[in-house]
Amino acid sequence: MIETRGLRKSYRSRAGRETKTVDAVRGVNLDVAAGEIFGFLGPNGAGKTTTLRMLATLIEPDGGEATVAGADLRKNPAEVRRRIGYVAQGGSTWDESSAREELVLQARLYGIGKAEAHRRAERALEAFQLAEYADRKTKTYSGGQRRRVEIALGIIHEPKIVFLDEPTTGLDPQSRAHMWDEIRRLRTEGMTVFITTHYLDEADALCDRIAIMDHGEVVAEGTPAELKREISGEVVIVGLDAATTPRAAELFDTEAYVSKLETVDEGGLRLYVDEGATAIPQVLRRLDHAGLDLRSIELHRPSLDDVFLTKTGRSLRES
Ligand SMILES: Nc1ncnc2c1ncn2[C@@H]1O[C@H](COP(=O)(O)OP(=O)(O)OP(=O)(O)O)[C@@H](O)[C@H]1O
Ligand SMILES: [Mg+2]
Repeated sequence: MIETRGLRKSYRSRAGRETKTVDAVRGVNLDVAAGEIFGFLGPNGAGKTTTLRMLATLIEPDGGEATVAGADLRKNPAEVRRRIGYVAQGGSTWDESSAREELVLQARLYGIGKAEAHRRAERALEAFQLAEYADRKTKTYSGGQRRRVEIALGIIHEPKIVFLDEPTTGLDPQSRAHMWDEIRRLRTEGMTVFITTHYLDEADALCDRIAIMDHGEVVAEGTPAELKREISGEVVIVGLDAATTPRAAELFDTEAYVSKLETVDEGGLRLYVDEGATAIPQVLRRLDHAGLDLRSIELHRPSLDDVFLTKTGRSLRES
C-alpha cells in the first residue's frame, strides 16, 4: 500500500540574517502492506508529521520515491489524494455546524450523492459514538468528541489508506481504548491505517508493525514482538535459595535454549532465552527433576522503550 525509497525533506527557515536548514526527514524507506495498522513511533521533532504530510501530498519531498495506494506520489499526486484519507495532528476549526452537517458536506465534496452521503454520515455517527450530539454545533463538543469527528471526516469517502497523526493524544484512557477499537474496526473493513504515536503501549497493543523514527531516520522496523526480541530475547527470572543457586546454575549452563545466564545476588538466576513462554515449562521440569526448590518464577519481556534505548542511546520517555 505504501512503498517509499529515500524520501527526504529539509526545511529552510530564516532567523534574522541567518538561514537555517533542518533535515526533518533524511532518507526514509517504508513498506506498508494492505490491511495492516502501521505505527510510526518517535519523540517530538523526529519527522513523523513531515513524513505523513509528504505521503498525503500536502508537501513535496526534496528527494526520493514513493508509491501510495498504487499511485506514484510525485507523478500522480492527484490520484494519491483521491485514494487516501488524512487526519491532521492539530484540530480543525470548530463552528456553527453540527457533526452530521460536516460529515455530509465532506462526503459531498468527494462527489458522493446526497442520499448516500446521509447514509454514510449516519453510519459514521453510530460507529464513532457521536449519535447523541450529532445535531449539536461542533464548537460545543469536548476534545475527545472533536477528535472522533475529525477521524470520521477523514474516512467518510472510504479511502484505501487513512493517515492518522496522533489520533489519541489528549484523549482520556477510556476514549483512547474506544479509539483503538474503532481503528481496529477500520482494519477489519480492509482499510490500511498509518498512525503516529508517542505512546509505547499504544504502538505495542494496536499496531501490526512499527517503524521507530529518530532525527529524521527510521532506526528500527518490525512487528512489536520482533523488535523486542531483537533486543535481548526474553529473561526468565528464577527465584531460588542462595544455597541451591550454584547447583541450578550448573544445570542450566548446558541447556541449549539458554543463551546467557546470570546469578542474582540474593539467590536465583536470570536465564536469557528466545521465548519465555516455551522456556518456562522446561525450566520447571529441569528443577523438579533435580529436586531443587523454586521460590518464584518471573518472565521479563523487553519493552519498546528498551528497543528505543538500544537504538538511540536514550529513553523515548526522556526524549
Ligand atoms: N514548516 C517548518 N519549517 C521549519 N522547520 C520545520 C517545519 N515543520 C517542521 N519543522 C521541523 O522539522 C522537524 C520534524 O518535525 P515534525 O513535525 O515532522 O516532527 P514530529 O515527529 O511530527 O514531532 P511531534 O511528535 O512533536 O509531532 C522538527 O525539527 C521541526 O521543528
Ligand atoms: Mg507530529
